[in-house]
Amino acid sequence: MHFFSILLIIVISKDKKMKMNFYDSFNARLRSVKKIIRAQKERYDLYRLGSVQIETEKLKLFNSIELSKIYNSKEIYDLWKKSNIAMEKFDLPNDTGGVNRGDRRAIFYLIASLKPQSVLEIGTHIGASTVNIASALSVTSKRNKPKLTTVDIVDVNSIEHKPWQKFRVKNSPKEMLDALGLAAFVNFETNTSLDYAKNTKKKFDFIFLDGDHSARSVYQEIPVALGLLQPGGVILLHDFFPKNIPLWSNGSVIPGPFLAVERIIKEGGNVQSLPLGKLPWRTKLGSNVTSLALFLRRP
Ligand SMILES: C[S@@+](CC[C@H](N)C(=O)[O-])C[C@H]1O[C@@H](n2cnc3c(N)ncnc32)[C@H](O)[C@@H]1O
Repeated sequence: MHFFSILLIIVISKDKKMKMNFYDSFNARLRSVKKIIRAQKERYDLYRLGSVQIETEKLKLFNSIELSKIYNSKEIYDLWKKSNIAMEKFDLPNDTGGVNRGDRRAIFYLIASLKPQSVLEIGTHIGASTVNIASALSVTSKRNKPKLTTVDIVDVNSIEHKPWQKFRVKNSPKEMLDALGLAAFVNFETNTSLDYAKNTKKKFDFIFLDGDHSARSVYQEIPVALGLLQPGGVILLHDFFPKNIPLWSNGSVIPGPFLAVERIIKEGGNVQSLPLGKLPWRTKLGSNVTSLALFLRRP
């Protein structure tokens, strides 16, 4: 039967259940069509860029990281538990653009295990990841003075605009760090990732890319981040959906980070992603799955 005839029968029908089923399946189809269009658009935008050159020799080797050992470390658990009591006081929400609680914990564990001295974060937003990185650095950095630089196009600590309040957060990122006694080694930069990278002379052991997640931006950020790495450094990506398959029951996918890495690998980059996968604790929507992924050198 013609689609519009079916639609008409459903609209005039008094059968509420039939109507609900129809609307649910219609919405699901619409969502999947939108998802396909978005991924195609991202792919199109990405391939309009010329190829980038990447230098991977500074990256840590893929096979040097054992995730299960990190997740199950009693020593790291004790450090996290103590630090988390202080961080929980800020009552950071799980659903306003900051990394979720489970991902924050995973980031703390990675920092505590890899023990970087200097960290660069792209995408400060409400500072959910920032406070976890700073807390982990303060308890595990071997040398005296760890350093964290966090970059956002928005002035995240603006007293005039108080951007954190729009996201149901009581304190600015800087205020949280002040309260934790960690502000002294954290440097906030209001800039784009690419402009910041172009102008800095600093080098980093750990770079977290959580800014603009479009394929185009991530494809340009990765080579620039590689240029800022110290030997043995790592890059951590957020919103990485392997093969762009949904990770959670809501079916959502952010295609950019995967598409960018896929292109780098297609172009011969000897790199490999290591999705953090299933964690031993909850992340979001009742699942233990995270979209965090390390970006490492293929052996
Ligand atoms: C998903 S949020 C980051 C969440 C944050 N890591 C947290 O846990 O609270 C992304 C942030 O990246 C910033 N951003 C977007 N494009 C950017 C760019 N090109 N350079 C730097 N920051 C960018 C946005 O303003 C936004 O605050």
